[in-house]
Formats: sequence, C-alpha cells, structure tokens
Amino acid sequence: MKKSLILDTAHLLLTSLIDPNDIVIDATMGNGFDTLFLSKLAKQVYAFDIQEQALLNTQGLLLKEHVTNVTLILDSHEHILNYVSDFKGVVFNLGYLPLGDKSITTTKDTTIKTLETLLPKLKKDGFILMVVYVGHKAGLEESHALHDYIQHLDQHLFKIMKIELPFQRNKPPYVILIHKTKDVC
Ligand SMILES: C[S@@+](CC[C@H](N)C(=O)[O-])C[C@H]1O[C@@H](n2cnc3c(N)ncnc32)[C@H](O)[C@@H]1O
Repeated sequence: MKKSLILDTAHLLLTSLIDPNDIVIDATMGNGFDTLFLSKLAKQVYAFDIQEQALLNTQGLLLKEHVTNVTLILDSHEHILNYVSDFKGVVFNLGYLPLGDKSITTTKDTTIKTLETLLPKLKKDGFILMVVYVGHKAGLEESHALHDYIQHLDQHLFKIMKIELPFQRNKPPYVILIHKTKDVC
C-alpha cells in the first residue's frame, strides 16, 4: 500500500473489475491520478471535470506519462451520456480538487442525479465505484444522500459493497461499489 489504504483498496478493486478491452469513465478527474490509473487498465478512458484547472493538471500528467487512450471533457458528470453511452464502469472520487478551491465540490444533488442517469446504462458486470469523503460538510450531506438512495436500489440487479475504516477517529473516506449482476430482472 502506498498513499491511502482506502484509495489503494479502490484501485485494487478496479484492477479486478476492468479488462483491457473496456471503456471506463472517470467522473471526477481532479489532478488525473485516477485517470492515469484507469488508462493502464482499460482500452479507453473518458474523464470529466467542471474545472479547467483539473483538465490542465491531468493533461500535464498524461503527457508526461505518454498516455494516449484518454479523452478529457470539461463538463459536469451529469452530462456523461451526451459524450459516451457504452461503458463498463464509472469511477467517482468525490469532493474537491486537492490543493484547489474547496468551494468547488461534488454535491449530493448532482451526484444522485448522475447515478440515476448512469445506473440504467450499466450492463451485466458493469460497476460504479465511489470514494466518499465525510470530513467536510458537503461531503457528509452527500454521504447521507447516497445511503438513502443506494439502499433502495433493486437487490436483484445490484450488489453493493461498502469498504470503510470503522475504528479510525479522523472521519476517513470510504468506498462504495455498485456492481450490476444481471442485465434485466
Ligand atoms: C477529489 S477530486 C478528484 C480527484 C481525482 N480523481 C484525482 O485522481 O486527482 C474531485 C473533483 O471533482 C470535480 N467535480 C466537482 N463537481 C463535479 C461535477 N459535477 N462533474 C465533474 N467533476 C466535478 C472537482 O472539480 C474536483 O476536481
């Protein structure tokens, strides 16, 4: 394990979920570390962010690493389906840009709205993986809204896993994996 147990565990899960021919989406590109990681597992990555700074940072990282299978898109993840409709999975690393403007953060309304558009598009074995941060106000609200929403998903279609550090006192992030197990009921 290198940086964070939770982020490293999220990446470990992604290595078992993604095959080399898959198309995957990074819904929150930020500084591009998850985008870079996904680019090494998948055939093609589409990465979204609402901040130009995120695109510039990610572009720089991908150029340095000679990555050519990533499309960067300056738009909110609620519009993902305007750009790509056929994908294996979507990754969200929620919250604000590290070292950036903390007021520009993912929000419960947009995140839930985006899930509502993406979940029906998932095929069997498709997934949505989210890293959820509860250490700031918007993140805690987002976490509560996600729990309210996810608990009502059809359990015949989706298996939902939560990975957390229950004994840590510093409000660490946690991982939610929504895995689609059937195409239809
Ligand atoms: C925690 S950072 C992501 C970290 C990133 N995955 C990395 O590896 O560096 C969260 C990012 O989500 C972005 N964001 C916030 N709302 C968004 C939205 N509606 N659509 C897309 N990105 C959004 C923020 O601008 C921020 O860059």
